[in-house]
Amino acid sequence: MDMIESISSFSMDRFSLKGKVAMVTGANQNLGMGYAVAFAKAGADLFIPHFTEDVSDVKRLVEAEGRKVAFIRGDMTKHEHIKEIVDACMAEYGRIDILVNNSGTNCFRDFPEFPDSEFKRVVDLNMMAVYYLGHEVAKVMIRQGGGKIINIGSALSYTADAMCPAYVTAKHGVIGITRSFANELGKYNIQCNAICPGFLATSVNSDVSDNPEYYKKITDRIPQGRWGNLDDLMGCMVFLASPASDYLNGADIKIDGGFSCTL
Ligand SMILES: NC(=O)c1ccc[n+]([C@@H]2O[C@H](COP(=O)([O-])OP(=O)(O)OC[C@H]3O[C@@H](n4cnc5c(N)ncnc54)[C@H](O)[C@@H]3O)[C@@H](O)[C@H]2O)c1
Repeated sequence: MDMIESISSFSMDRFSLKGKVAMVTGANQNLGMGYAVAFAKAGADLFIPHFTEDVSDVKRLVEAEGRKVAFIRGDMTKHEHIKEIVDACMAEYGRIDILVNNSGTNCFRDFPEFPDSEFKRVVDLNMMAVYYLGHEVAKVMIRQGGGKIINIGSALSYTADAMCPAYVTAKHGVIGITRSFANELGKYNIQCNAICPGFLATSVNSDVSDNPEYYKKITDRIPQGRWGNLDDLMGCMVFLASPASDYLNGADIKIDGGFSCTL
């Protein structure tokens, strides 16, 4: 395509997800629900593997956009559940265009007492399941001729915080998985990128966000002077899921109000 043709063929339709099927893990609450509803607003139907029982909010919000949503419940640290998720989505929609590996958990404990069982539980969900589900979904996307995989890192993908060595380890691993998938899958027209949110007050960090001293310490480091909101993440997520980002592959995008730029 020549330069003039490439420029003039660009249109805002490149941000549309019309006709796409998006799988977002753990999207019945908090950040994942924001991503799912952003996708519905952009025209996608949703498939949501969930762990906690209540799916009423996300169902109502997605259906209010005129989009479909289907669910499967289970524990993603159980390896056999990964294949069940992919099979259930294929049975429902016959395709998967977008995967967001959002499910995650944390454990805060003094380092000398940090239990091996918690290290395993956190790494199994935040890192191993990201690889296993991404790998299964990639096989579908290769058959389809393309797709988008978006992993969720963290500020702790780049640096360590106290009392959460498993989370830090797993979130660093998520960046490695993202780069490896980008490298392996680019030739199949599949792009894999990561969003690394800064600090949003949700259940993964409620142990520390409820602590006024810690809350202030973090807030003081954020140039924009506040923790993040869900709608701070939704636009970037739509961009990464859409054809507008077709040449972005292997990136990790920090959405943290500038936190990672400061000392
Ligand atoms: N809140 C933040 O400040 C923040 C910052 C950076 C990254 N993140 C990441 O964003 C993602 C979503 O976090 P959130 O803040 O919305 O918290 P959250 O606790 O609401 O989300 C985690 C999701 O994972 C699910 N989950 C937990 N255990 C599971 C299991 N065994 N099997 C399957 N699913 C399971 C939960 O049910 C929930 O839906 C996580 O990966 C988290 O690490 C959050």
